Amino acid sequence: MLIAGNWKMNTDLPRGVELAKAIADGIDDADSAFDAIDFAVCPPFVHLQAVGEVLEDHPVAVGAQDVHSEDEGAYTSDVSAPMLTSVGCTHVIIGHSERRQYYGETDGEVNQKALQAHRHDLVPIICVGETIDQRRSGDAKSVVHAQLEGALDGLEVTAADDLIIAYEPVWAIGTGESATPEQAQDMHAVIREDLADRYGADVASDIELLYGGSMKPHNAADLLSQPDVTGGLIGSASLEAESFLGIAEEAAAVLEG
Ligand code: 13P
Repeated sequence: MLIAGNWKMNTDLPRGVELAKAIADGIDDADSAFDAIDFAVCPPFVHLQAVGEVLEDHPVAVGAQDVHSEDEGAYTSDVSAPMLTSVGCTHVIIGHSERRQYYGETDGEVNQKALQAHRHDLVPIICVGETIDQRRSGDAKSVVHAQLEGALDGLEVTAADDLIIAYEPVWAIGTGESATPEQAQDMHAVIREDLADRYGADVASDIELLYGGSMKPHNAADLLSQPDVTGGLIGSASLEAESFLGIAEEAAAVLEG
C-alpha cells in the first residue's frame, strides 16, 4: 500500500520543509502503526533536496512531478533525470492530467519520459484518466487503455516495483467529487489486466495501482479497500500532515482488516 502526496505548485521552501518535518514527526509518533505503508512525497523541484534531507531517515520516498526525456541540453526551464537522482529523488510522476491539459503533453511524450526514468533508475508514477465527457460518452476504459498503450510502449518491467500507475479521473481532481469505490475498482481491474497482458500476471499482480482524485481521510478507507486499489496519489489533502497521515491511518486500518 503506497500513500503518495503530489504537492503540485504549492508551498514555498520553508512551508515545504515544515510539511515534510510534520510528516516525519507523525510517522515517528505512530510507532509501528505505519509499518505496512509505503510513503512518497512529490514536492516542487526547488524543494527536492531540502525535503529529501528532512526525510532521509524516514520511510518516505521523494519524487519529482515531471522529468525531461533528455539527459541535458538547451531546454530552458526543464529538469533532467540525472538532476533528479543527484538530489536523491527515486520516483517521478509522469503524464499528470495537468501536464497533459495545460502543456499538451502527449502519450508519446509520456512514453519518452517513462523510458528516460527507467534509464536512470527512477520509478515512474504514470498517470492516466479520462475527462468527464469521455466518461459520459462511455469511452473511459478505452481512453485509459490507449493512454497505457502509449505510455508503456517499449518499457521493460520485470519487477513490480519498476512501475507505478495512478488512475486519476480528471473530473475527480480538485473537485471534491471522488470516483466511487466501484468506479475506481472497475478501472483498476482494467489497468491490472492490461499490465498482466504486457508483463505477465505475476509481475502485474504486485504493481501498485494508485487512485487519485479528491481522496481524503473520510473516503480513503472505502477506496483503499477495493482489491485493485493499492494506494493513493493525493493532491490537496497531502498539503497538511494531518490529512495526509489521516489517509495513511485509514490505509493501515484497511490492511489490518
Ligand atoms: P486532489 O487530491 O487535490 O484531487 O488531486 C489529485 C491529484 O491530482 C494527485 O496527483
